[in-house]
Amino acid sequence: MGQGIAQVFSTSGFEVRLVDVSAQRLHQGMEAIDASLGRLVQKQQMTPENRDRVIASIRTSRHPDSLHGCEFIVEAVTENLAVKSGVLQKLDRICPDTTILASNTSSISLTRLAAQTARADRVIGMHFMNPVPLMKLVEVVRAYQTSENTCKETEQLALKLGRTPVFANDSPGFVSNRILMPMINEAIFTLHEGVAEAEAIDEIMKLGMNHPIGPLALADLIGLDVVLSVLEVLQDGTGDPKFRPCPLLKKMVDANLLGRKTGKGFYPYP
Ligand SMILES: NC(=O)c1ccc[n+]([C@@H]2O[C@H](COP(=O)([O-])OP(=O)(O)OC[C@H]3O[C@@H](n4cnc5c(N)ncnc54)[C@H](O)[C@@H]3O)[C@@H](O)[C@H]2O)c1
Repeated sequence: MGQGIAQVFSTSGFEVRLVDVSAQRLHQGMEAIDASLGRLVQKQQMTPENRDRVIASIRTSRHPDSLHGCEFIVEAVTENLAVKSGVLQKLDRICPDTTILASNTSSISLTRLAAQTARADRVIGMHFMNPVPLMKLVEVVRAYQTSENTCKETEQLALKLGRTPVFANDSPGFVSNRILMPMINEAIFTLHEGVAEAEAIDEIMKLGMNHPIGPLALADLIGLDVVLSVLEVLQDGTGDPKFRPCPLLKKMVDANLLGRKTGKGFYPYP
């Protein structure tokens, strides 16, 4: 997600710093951006000069200190409260008071994340959809503490990125994943109980419900670890057993069958 978000900011004319603890993920991210922009050049939707300018406007680093001069930061690290809290606390220490700290979390409470910082009014959810360059929606999530100014600035920024911001209040899974994840989970239960094969489940949802992608293929795209984390947040946050993750999902995550990112999930990605 970080790579897609960096691509959208840089193609919209912003100077970008892309930070990850893993040098390998940074390298893969830049390769993926290069490939994505290369396709635009091939289709003559972007000039080679513009592609070079966009690539040059993204600087990578393994050190969060390199973010200290940034006006707006979108955190997109692993979907885990402890990991995100550590990153936000660090950013809060090194960034000017004016910097807005946005989180791309799929489900974790923005109110809790904001409380990790001394600038809770300048923390907000900026939930991009996958794949970021293709998806227009940004679900903007107000923490309990988020100020009206932070909401307005984030809305303006999303518009500059060519996205459509839609606001939601902080609540487990917000709007998008509160509705999407039970459907994906139910598709996994349907497979688990032997009602149909994966291909048939996806085909029925695509042809019958006009979904552009089936729920199991979508789970592979999102990452099964992310799907499981979001369902756990929904289950813990609401106390409602309807969000109980399917045992097959848990097994697949234990087996590191996470979907596209590990080469195999419900489908193989050789
Ligand atoms: N996958 C999706 O479809 C999707 C969609 C919308 C939002 N999100 C959210 O975006 C975030 C990232 O999801 P993803 O699918 O890209 O996950 P991912 O596991 O593919 O990537 C997470 C990245 O964070 C890096 N990281 C971990 N700890 C770090 C730290 N302390 N400092 C810097 N980098 C660190 C990892 O090296 C990794 O490259 C999550 O919050 C997720 O819920 C995901």
